Amino acid sequence: MPEANISPNQGKSLNILARACSAKNILELGTLVGYSTVWLARALPAGGKLITIEYDETNYKIATENIKEANLEEVITIRQGKALEILPEIEKNQSETFDFIFIDADKPPYVEYLKWAIKLSRKGSMIVLDNVIRNAEVLKEETSDPRVVGVKNLNNYLKGCQAADFTILQMVGAKEYDGMAIGIVK
Ligand code: SAH
Ligand code: DHB
Ligand code: MG
Repeated sequence: MPEANISPNQGKSLNILARACSAKNILELGTLVGYSTVWLARALPAGGKLITIEYDETNYKIATENIKEANLEEVITIRQGKALEILPEIEKNQSETFDFIFIDADKPPYVEYLKWAIKLSRKGSMIVLDNVIRNAEVLKEETSDPRVVGVKNLNNYLKGCQAADFTILQMVGAKEYDGMAIGIVK
């Protein structure tokens, strides 16, 4: 399993942010095995719901077990598949907008993921994107790592984004320093 889960302090930060928004409907892209998912689901009030999307079948299976163990199977729905294929289905089926969206799947399509997040939001919804600093790799002019290129494109896009207001906060994780972009939909 890749060590890509958020750290405990970051989990608590997401939990606090979701509670500050009184989030009742949460969407997550990139479940891995459900660590961030559980932190977010525990921010929900009774009756709240969380949908999380995971591409990898093994991760999906382990996440399903972890969510059962956390007694959150009534709250969390895991959708297995590519986020860009599942998101249009969610748009069709979901009658309510999402109050809080956490984007943490593969990095190259981050700008597309953000556009989807805005489409599935309302005024005041919060959108958070993980890994936008990457040990300051984003500051390098030249980089061939597609994960870094993806978040560099995202950070540039945020500068001119009219649909939402964003800030980026550095955060100490478990292995290296990184950061999250935190925004409110206008
Ligand atoms: N949010 C998790 C970590 C996610 S790691 C946590 O903090 O605990 C990124 C995850 O995105 C991986 O599990 C990977 O399989 C998944 N992923 C990669 N490409 C994807 C895609 N196109 N659609 C959905 N999930 C994807
Ligand atoms: C990677 C992905 C993540 O979402 C993360 O938090 C850390 C690392 C990665 O793909 O390397
Ligand atoms: Mg991440």
